[in-house]
Amino acid sequence: MHLTKDEERILKGEYGEGTQKAMELLVAIGDAYDAEKMIPVSRAHAASSGQEGDLYFVELLANGGARCKVPTSTNPVYDIEYFHNLFDFIPKDEAEVARRVMEAYKRVGATLSWSCVPYLAENIPLYGETVAFSESSATPYVNSVIGARTNREAAQSALAAGVVGKTPKYGLLVKENRKGTHLVKVQTALKDEFDYTLLGYYVGKQIGYGTPVFTGVTRQPSTEELINFCAMSNVSGAISMFYIPGFTVEAQTVKEAFQGDAPQDKITVTSRELKRACEELQTTSGKIDFVMLGCPHYTLKQVKEVARLLEGKKIHDGVSFWVCTSATTKMLAERTGYVDIIERAGGHVVVDTCIDEPCWIAYKNKVGMTDSPKCAYYRRFKDVIVSRLQDCIEAAIKGK
Ligand code: F3S
Repeated sequence: MHLTKDEERILKGEYGEGTQKAMELLVAIGDAYDAEKMIPVSRAHAASSGQEGDLYFVELLANGGARCKVPTSTNPVYDIEYFHNLFDFIPKDEAEVARRVMEAYKRVGATLSWSCVPYLAENIPLYGETVAFSESSATPYVNSVIGARTNREAAQSALAAGVVGKTPKYGLLVKENRKGTHLVKVQTALKDEFDYTLLGYYVGKQIGYGTPVFTGVTRQPSTEELINFCAMSNVSGAISMFYIPGFTVEAQTVKEAFQGDAPQDKITVTSRELKRACEELQTTSGKIDFVMLGCPHYTLKQVKEVARLLEGKKIHDGVSFWVCTSATTKMLAERTGYVDIIERAGGHVVVDTCIDEPCWIAYKNKVGMTDSPKCAYYRRFKDVIVSRLQDCIEAAIKGK
């Protein structure tokens, strides 16, 4: 890969050891993908995790004096004190790892958003920007819905790009690589957020790695529907970009989305496929111990809907009820009164964390319910039933 004189100097360590390590990683990636050169990025999102793989690299950079050159937001970790007070048994070594991760991201000058939907509030790219975003919903959302350009970064490569302010030019940063690969004909009405969840789950599983182009979507999907589609298609598959011509920004027609080429394959989605996907996710029935919502982090509109469904009701004794969201959203939900309604019903609205964090170890042998296949996928719990939000609320009230 061709490097400018300044990039060579970074690689030699003239800007400090931390920045040098970040550059070494970017150059290795660029070489692996036959990139010709580096290009500037305007922002990054590091899918930090509060776990060991994350700790090694962020400390390597922070200890070497690296600082983020462009805004770099962070994924959820968890508030150690909050969970410790609540459950009283987060393993000490796990808590120490999380503490060090959070401290290192602070030292490296990241924006401590601790949210997996930073593209809604804390770190919003514009159309056409080149960025380095990791996190399952974030990558396809910024590529497809916003029309910025990012590769499917790891936490480490996104952080390295944030520190250097550059990334190798390859993959989805190159227009020709952004063309559609699979034509997906939707032959059923997509009614709500959960239908988009099922669509993402099914399409990701069918395609694996690729760029679907949808036909048959008859109305503008909402922000929440798009977030759900993005997250789930990147759990059952690896979908970094998709097109819904007429509704997503980059291509107005199917032909444009395929850049004139024929699709590699065609898939049809009817109500049968969505029903089957739903049945696959409903793994058990009966008594539940907890309900977990907000994977990806709930938007204000979703928190409002939970409050509406819970208003004047009581969550069943013995059922813990959680809504995960960002600090920004919780602040607004508090001001607006939604948090109060949820707490009065016996639920919790919690910020900065994610279902894939060790802070939930208390539920390891418990059965839960969620509206998110991604939450079920991580297998931190004995079993997790996936169903619509209304079903989760109903089960929380009945206890089964
Ligand atoms: Fe977000 Fe964690 Fe789910 S990062 S999407 S809450 S697994």
